[in-house]
Amino acid sequence: MIQNKSKTQGTESGQAQIEWLEGAVPCSARFDDPYYSRQDGLAETRHVFLAGNRLAERFADAGRFTVAELGFGTGLNFLATAMLWNETASPGAMLDFLSFEQFPMAATDMAAALTVWPELAALAKPLCDAWDNRGDGMEAFQLTMASTRLTVFLGDANIRLPQARLVADAWFLDGFSPARNPELWNEALLGEVFRHTLPGGTLATYSAAGWVRRNLETAGFRTTRQPGHAGKRQMTVAVRRS
Ligand SMILES: C[S@@+](CC[C@H](N)C(=O)[O-])C[C@H]1O[C@@H](n2cnc3c(N)ncnc32)[C@H](O)[C@@H]1O
Repeated sequence: MIQNKSKTQGTESGQAQIEWLEGAVPCSARFDDPYYSRQDGLAETRHVFLAGNRLAERFADAGRFTVAELGFGTGLNFLATAMLWNETASPGAMLDFLSFEQFPMAATDMAAALTVWPELAALAKPLCDAWDNRGDGMEAFQLTMASTRLTVFLGDANIRLPQARLVADAWFLDGFSPARNPELWNEALLGEVFRHTLPGGTLATYSAAGWVRRNLETAGFRTTRQPGHAGKRQMTVAVRRS
């Protein structure tokens, strides 16, 4: 059990219920798991997802690039990716970031979580404002900011991904821990991730769970373990076999 929590309640059915760890790190009441590292979520995102997919070097060469993600959460991974894209991509290049979210956070919780990183504020403000104004019952949230297009498919990724028309250069697998959120790491879903990845495309995840790696290998990825973030011994990166 995680200690030192305070609580804000979601009101819509399916909306995330957040407990705050040490006042700053959001934790899901449903899954009893934090949304990101308690040490420094942004540093974790940069280590696991950006470096794990070698995005800085790949962005510099890309005319367009598609990142897809399981688990939108606070939008931290999206914002860190958009910031890197703004710093590295060529003029005229376009980033598509597509994510899946079954239990959307309230915009006020999202904004509260993201205030910890003032360097993200210029991108976080328009995201939180648009998230706050999204209509009820929409199937997908969309936002364009300069050369970045964001789409968040709302609903269970197990249902939405098989229907989605997307092929990603790179994936972020960012469900809650596989033990607490096995629906986001199952063999069929990771098979869909494979089907929605370009040949030679990559993925990264903080998890080094053996059964997740086996599901990825069965799907058709070649997996490798790398050192994890902040004392975590290992994480997983993978390349789609052609
Ligand atoms: C670890 S958090 C993601 C953190 C996020 N990437 C960020 O930048 O803040 C996991 C997310 O997966 C979502 N999730 C869990 N099960 C899901 C499912 N079956 N389909 C879609 N999203 C799911 C949760 O609601 C949560 O927002």
